[in-house]
Amino acid sequence: MLIDGHNRVVDYLRVSVTERCNFRCQYCMPEKPFSWVPKENLLSYEDLFKFIKVSIDEGIKKVRITGGEPLLREGLDNFIKMIYDYKSDIDLALTTNGYLLPRVAQKLKDAGLKRINVSLDTLKPDVAAKIAQKDVLGKVLEGISKADEVGLKIKVNCVPMKGINDNEIIDILEFCKQKGYVVRFIEFMENHHAKDGAKGLSSEEIQNIISKKYNFKMVPRDTSSPAQYFELEDGYKFGVIEPHKDDFCAACNRIRLTAEGYLIPCLYFEDAMSIKDAVQNNEIDKAVEILKEVLRTKPEKNKWSEEDSSETSTRAFYETGG
Ligand code: GTP
Ligand code: 5AD
Ligand code: SF4
Repeated sequence: MLIDGHNRVVDYLRVSVTERCNFRCQYCMPEKPFSWVPKENLLSYEDLFKFIKVSIDEGIKKVRITGGEPLLREGLDNFIKMIYDYKSDIDLALTTNGYLLPRVAQKLKDAGLKRINVSLDTLKPDVAAKIAQKDVLGKVLEGISKADEVGLKIKVNCVPMKGINDNEIIDILEFCKQKGYVVRFIEFMENHHAKDGAKGLSSEEIQNIISKKYNFKMVPRDTSSPAQYFELEDGYKFGVIEPHKDDFCAACNRIRLTAEGYLIPCLYFEDAMSIKDAVQNNEIDKAVEILKEVLRTKPEKNKWSEEDSSETSTRAFYETGG
C-alpha cells in the first residue's frame, strides 16, 4: 500500500502521455505562442509502462491516461492493452476532449479501456469555438455518442465560466441526465496559463443555479474521486469538484506522472522528481524509491482554498494532465 506523508492512501495514478493539445481552452492554455516539449524528451510507452507496472504492484488501483489531449499520441490503444493485460481489474480510464473519439472509441474499448471523462462546457457551437479557440462542438458530441455506443462509461466535465457558459448549467445537466451520463461541474482553478481575467463559479453558485429548477441532496463523499455528488429527486446524480473548499485535499488519493517522466505530488505543486533515468536504465527499485520520496513531500493542501488564490502558481494543466 502507498501512503503519503499525511497518512493518505494513494491508489490513483494519473499518467499524461503528451502535453500537446488540439484545443486551446481558455482556462488551460496561454493565448500567446509557446513551444511544446520536443517529442524525443517524452518517455516511450514501454518506459511509462515499467513505472505503471511497479506502481500497480505497490498498490495503485486506478490508472487514468491524460494529456494535453492523449488521443493525439499514436499507439494509445496498444498502450492501454499493455496495462489491461497486466492487471485487468484495475479502474482503467481516460480523460479526453473528445474530438478524436469518433475514430478511436471502438479501438480503445477493444484494448480494455473501461471509461472516459470528456470535457463539455457548452452545447452552443459558437461558445465552444470561443472556449477552445477552434470549431469543435460537432466532433465532440459525435465522439461522446460513439464512446457511448461502443460501451464506454461516460462522465462529462464542465468548467462554468462567468459570462461565457454559466447560463448553460441547467442545459448541460439535462443533456447528461437524458443521455445517462454523469456530469461534474468543476470550479475553475486559477493559474498563470489561463486567459487573463478568466473567472469561474464557486460550488455554491453552481448549486444555487441548479436549485432554481431542481431539489437535490448531498450524497456521502466517495473518496476515490475528487467530486462531491448531489442527488436529484428522481435519483440522477451530478457532481461538483470543489478545489477551493478547505477539506478538498483531505481525501486526495492521487499522484501524477507527466509525459516527460516527472512525478508530481499535487496539481498546484511546481516541484517534481523525475523517474526518467531510473526507468530508462531499468533501475525499477530506484523508481520506487523516488515514488516514495515524492509521496513524503505531497503537500497537505492545495492553494486554491486560500483567501487570495489568484496568484496560485502551478505547472500548466496541459502538462500535469489536469
Ligand atoms: P474520476 O475517476 O472519474 O472521478 O475522474 P477524475 O475526476 O479524477 O478525473 P478527471 O480527469 O475527469 O478530472 C476532473 C477534474 O478534477 C479536473 O479539473 C482535474 O484537474 C480535477 N482534479 C483531479 N484531481 C485533482 C486534485 O488532486 N486536485 C485538484 N485541485 N483538482 C483535481
Ligand atoms: N480549472 C478547472 N478545470 C480545468 N480543466 C482544465 N483546466 C482547468 C482549470 N484551470 C479541466 C478540463 C478537463 C479536466 C481534465 O480538467 O475541463 O475536463
Ligand atoms: Fe482544453 Fe484539455 Fe486541451 Fe487543456 S488539455 S486545452 S483543457 S482540451
